[in-house]
Amino acid sequence: VSIEKFIEGIPKIELHLHIEGTFEPELMFKIAKRNNKEIKYSTVDELKSAYSFNNLQEFLDIYYAGANVLIEEQDFYDLTWAYLTKVHTQNLVHTEIFFDPQTHTDRGISFDTVIKGIHRALEDGREKLGITYKLILSFLRHLDEASAFETLHQALPYKKWISGVGLDSSEVGNPPSKFERVFTKAKEEGFITVAHAGEEGPAEYIWEAVNLLKVTRIDHGNRCLEDDRLVKLLADLQIPLTLCPLSNLELKVIDDLKKYPLPEMIDKGLLVTINSDDPAYFGGYMNENYIGIAQALNLSKKQITELVKNSFKASWLSDKEKEKKI
Ligand code: HPA
Ligand code: ZN
Repeated sequence: VSIEKFIEGIPKIELHLHIEGTFEPELMFKIAKRNNKEIKYSTVDELKSAYSFNNLQEFLDIYYAGANVLIEEQDFYDLTWAYLTKVHTQNLVHTEIFFDPQTHTDRGISFDTVIKGIHRALEDGREKLGITYKLILSFLRHLDEASAFETLHQALPYKKWISGVGLDSSEVGNPPSKFERVFTKAKEEGFITVAHAGEEGPAEYIWEAVNLLKVTRIDHGNRCLEDDRLVKLLADLQIPLTLCPLSNLELKVIDDLKKYPLPEMIDKGLLVTINSDDPAYFGGYMNENYIGIAQALNLSKKQITELVKNSFKASWLSDKEKEKKI
C-alpha cells in the first residue's frame, strides 16, 4: 500500500492537541448563532481566509477570539465531541488533550462549565468510540502567577479528571521560571507536568522547563537543536518532544516541511512524536501531519511505525493499557 494509506490505517496516538484549536468554522458559526454571539466575519469562507499567520501571536489572537462564542457546558461538549468523531475516522486510539481554562474563566465562564462539558464528551468518546484519553490543564503564560494559582485551585475538586498541567500561549518574554511555584504545587497535588518550550522561545526555556518545572515532555522543543548539551540531556533522559509539523509551518517556526529537522533529531537520539496542535487552524489533523512530513522527508513505513511507537512510549498510558492497544 502507499505511504498515505499506510498512515491512514495505522492506529495512532496524539499527545499535543488544544481542544480550543479544534474549533472548526462551521461549528463556530452554529454555536455563535445559538448563543447570540457576534463573529467578526460574516461567512465561514471569510473566517477561513483570516487564517494566515506570520507568528504565534497572530494565531493566538484569532484562536482566543474564536473561543469567545463558547458559553454553555453543551458548547464544550459539542467542541470536544466533534474532535473525537473526526479523529475516530483517522484511527486515533488515544489522545492527551489540553484545555485552557483561563481563556474561558477570564470571560466569566465558570471552570465547572468548561470541564464538565469536555469531560462528558471524553467519557462518551471512550465508551462509544473506544478512544482513551488524558486531560491536561494548560496555564496561559501571558497571564500572571496569581491567575495560574487561582486556576489550579479551581481544578483541585476535579483532580480525578485531570492527569497533568501544561503551559501555553505567548512564549517569548514568559519563561517557564515565571510558573515554577505553580508547577511545584501542581506536582505536590499529583499532577504530571509538561510545557510548551522552544517553539519561538530560546533553548534556555527548555532547560527551565526541565530543571524548574520538572516536565515529563516538552511541547514543540524545536529550538533544542541550538544547544548540544541540551540535546544530549533530552536524549539521555528520553524526554519526548511533541512536534507539530503543520503548526510549525503555519506559524513560520519553519519555512518548508522539506527542511523539518526530524532526521537530525532522530539521529541525535531524541524521542520525537508527531501531533496536530490546533488542527482547525493549521490545515490538518493527525493523518495530514503524518502524511505531510512523510511526503516532505520521504519517510518509509518503518520510520512511520517508529514515530507511532514513540508516541506510545511518550504517552501516559500504563504498560497494561498499552498492551491492550497493540
Ligand atoms: N503554542 C503556544 N500556545 C498555543 C499553541 C502553541 O502552539 N496552540 C495553542 N496555544
Ligand atoms: Zn500547542
